[in-house]
Amino acid sequence: MQITFSEPKLPTSGTLVVGVFEENVLTPAAKAADNRLNGALSRAMKAADFTGKARQTAELLAPAGSKLDRIVAIGMGKADAIDALGAEKAGGTLYAKLSKAGGPVTVVVEGVGKAGMRAPEIAAHMAFGLRLRAYRFDKYRTTMKKEDKPRLKKVAFGVKGAAAAKRAYQPLAMIGDGVYFTRDLVSEPANVLYPESFAAEVKALTKLGVKVEVLGEKQMEKLGMGSLLGVGLGSRRESQLVVMQWNGAPKSKKSKPIAFVGKGVTFDTGGISLKPGNGMWDMKWDMGGAGVVSGLMKALAGRKAKVNVIGILGLVENMPDGNAQRPGDVVTSMSGQTIEVLNTDAEGRLVLADALWYTQDRFKPEFMVNLATLTGAIIVALGNVHGGLFSNDDELARRLEAAGKAVDEPIWRFPLHAEYDKAIDSPIADMKNISTAGGAGSITAAQFLQRFVNKVPWAHLDIAGVTWSNKDKPTVPKGATAFGVRLLERLVADHYEA
Ligand code: BES
Ligand code: MN
Ligand code: ZN
Repeated sequence: MQITFSEPKLPTSGTLVVGVFEENVLTPAAKAADNRLNGALSRAMKAADFTGKARQTAELLAPAGSKLDRIVAIGMGKADAIDALGAEKAGGTLYAKLSKAGGPVTVVVEGVGKAGMRAPEIAAHMAFGLRLRAYRFDKYRTTMKKEDKPRLKKVAFGVKGAAAAKRAYQPLAMIGDGVYFTRDLVSEPANVLYPESFAAEVKALTKLGVKVEVLGEKQMEKLGMGSLLGVGLGSRRESQLVVMQWNGAPKSKKSKPIAFVGKGVTFDTGGISLKPGNGMWDMKWDMGGAGVVSGLMKALAGRKAKVNVIGILGLVENMPDGNAQRPGDVVTSMSGQTIEVLNTDAEGRLVLADALWYTQDRFKPEFMVNLATLTGAIIVALGNVHGGLFSNDDELARRLEAAGKAVDEPIWRFPLHAEYDKAIDSPIADMKNISTAGGAGSITAAQFLQRFVNKVPWAHLDIAGVTWSNKDKPTVPKGATAFGVRLLERLVADHYEA
């Protein structure tokens, strides 16, 4: 998608898009277009019952007396209520409406008086929303008909203060690149994306100034990561631990880094505790947490965030095999704690146990946030709307909740409690990897992780319900959502940049 900003001018060909605020408060451009067409635009809006409510659209095709192909009115909602999210959703809705349109598209963006956001800001966020909605993963569609593919490739925004709009769009474009990177990783099938090929994709971030180290099985064995390595025993693919570092804080500021850790199970069959066949294909996106951490690092490095950040990925494939670990096996984690593996399908926590321990041990971070498609139980509790939040630190939890709200990636906090913790005590090891008490499956998993954070401020986001979407949303087409990239980028921007 090519997006440009220039000073506003009514186009003489192609598609003209004008914003209309609620109760048909025509912006000056809309009014000018309407006048030129002798009121045809107002009549079309009336005929379509269009009143300017957020995300309504109305269109007028090949208007007489004009060389334009069409004019589209996009509802912007109440003039004084327009905000970044509203503008993004308008932009995304516009993309969905025009994706099959040929020819140039010009969007004229105006603010209305003192109320609400300024026009350059609105334009930048509309462009961002449009780009987010335009994501596609069709590299394997070799016989797709041309008419089924989107034709919209270029959108020009006409806005007073185009230079300011361009400037405001710059960091958003970098966040967009991060979101696209995550969606690409999450969409790839597991025969293409496995631990080594995933690590290779992440290596490309060195071009942006990210330092990337990749640890293989030998190195992890030396570190004593028996918990992570146990999960990969049944796989032909070698497990990997990826360590990314972005050092963007000014040298004068000696602060602890912040750290993000992702579950990267490139395919989860369940292992010997094999999952049923129906729906198992979804487990290609069991690396969603690692995908988000990768996209976040890309976004932060892309916009040269003034912060020191660590990104850690635990990459493994969970397969049944003659060499796979068995239910009842006992493994020793890097922390020294032993784990009785009662269910080989509760593997994400085994991967994160060593990844979290390694992160706090090596980097002594100010905080750690891990992301994981960890439990089916979180989908029972929250469906596909909120992610689950678990934390040992109220301030960090509040900041995460606020960031999620601000970017429309909402999360809901669950409790941690000693009584839940007891449920994973084992009679033959320090702990077992599932509770046999029944109930509270997502909390049990979080309690397990907490045993490996060594009192560092920490939060766990269970994103099993929000990593993949079966329906289109204004700025998120169905498929891989990248839920978490924008949330964490916002967390960093709001609290941790020098
Ligand atoms: N990757 C799954 C969780 C999951 C389920 C993610 C559905 C996305 C959609 C995880 O590894 C898993 O299998 N969890 C088990 C844990 C159980 C064995 C305690 C689950 O949720 O059933
Ligand atoms: Mn599993
Ligand atoms: Zn899993």
